[in-house]
Amino acid sequence: MSKPLILVTGANGQLGWCLQNKAAEYNQFEFLFVGREQLDLANIDTIQHFLFEYKPSFIINCAAYTAVDKAETDMENALKINAIAVGEMAKYCAATNAVFVTISTDYVFDGNGTKPYMVTEATNPVNYYGYTKWLGEKLSLENNSNSIIIRTSWVYCEHGNNFVKTMLRLMKEKTEINVVNDQIGCPTYAPSLADAILKIICQLPEKKYRGIYHFSNTGNISWFNFATAIKEIAALNCTIHPVATTTFPTPAKRPAYSCMNTSKIEKDFSIEITNWQTALTKCINNLEIT
Ligand SMILES: NC(=O)c1ccc[n+]([C@@H]2O[C@H](COP(=O)([O-])OP(=O)(O)OC[C@H]3O[C@@H](n4cnc5c(N)ncnc54)[C@H](OP(=O)(O)O)[C@@H]3O)[C@@H](O)[C@H]2O)c1
Repeated sequence: MSKPLILVTGANGQLGWCLQNKAAEYNQFEFLFVGREQLDLANIDTIQHFLFEYKPSFIINCAAYTAVDKAETDMENALKINAIAVGEMAKYCAATNAVFVTISTDYVFDGNGTKPYMVTEATNPVNYYGYTKWLGEKLSLENNSNSIIIRTSWVYCEHGNNFVKTMLRLMKEKTEINVVNDQIGCPTYAPSLADAILKIICQLPEKKYRGIYHFSNTGNISWFNFATAIKEIAALNCTIHPVATTTFPTPAKRPAYSCMNTSKIEKDFSIEITNWQTALTKCINNLEIT
């Protein structure tokens, strides 16, 4: 009997790359990793044809338009990739009983909260990227009531562009840097999220939990706290100055507080989540060795 096929979109992104690294541990499945070259999610008309050609039993949608500031002006592409295409994948899953797992963001919240957001809390995105991801969530659920949506935040890993790699580079190049201290969130090491997704996939479709989940490593910090920890773990000498968000004006507004409560994913799927310090140490050790 052939193995169930898992289609992973966004194969060359941070999360897609981490899933590729872990696929060999899950040899009960066959994996098909696709980048933009194989499946361009901005070409909405081609999506159903592609999916019905390969007929995956699972889709893990890691592809996204993630350029938060650029999305403010490149609205049509952001909308297609983060919302319309997600709805198309959900439709395919509803028609074929395939499992749909798609990744969303803490940016669906407005950031006015003061304690970690529950999955049931009201959304109110403050930028266009957040709006498109919110619409992607809505279309996922409207087109397939069995969709699983995992919101995550502040994603980094050894691969791709992210805050950790930028900070390591800047702290080696400069003697002083400024980092914002008034945005609070939860960093997510992409391999931690990849592990959680694959553990969830192994429990589906038998386990009947569906809907919205939150995932990040545990602990809440500011970007300044995060940068300070990066400096300490990597034993660098740069001086880091805490500054206000207003010091770095950006086209897209950022939520000031975007910590998420992860208890639902921990409970429903027995996921144990590493704290952000342990995850960050692992990433920096890997980066500094290679
Ligand atoms: N990064 C974060 O801090 C963060 C925070 C919260 C939520 N998330 C969510 O987490 C998920 C994974 O994020 P990530 O950090 O792994 O993102 P990433 O590294 O930016 O990767 C996104 C991937 O999507 C692909 N993509 C973009 N446009 C596409 C298109 N038209 N067709 C097909 N593929 C396309 C990109 O392909 P190319 O390589 O060809 O550009 C890239 O490989 C996304 O849903 C994101 O919204 C991320």
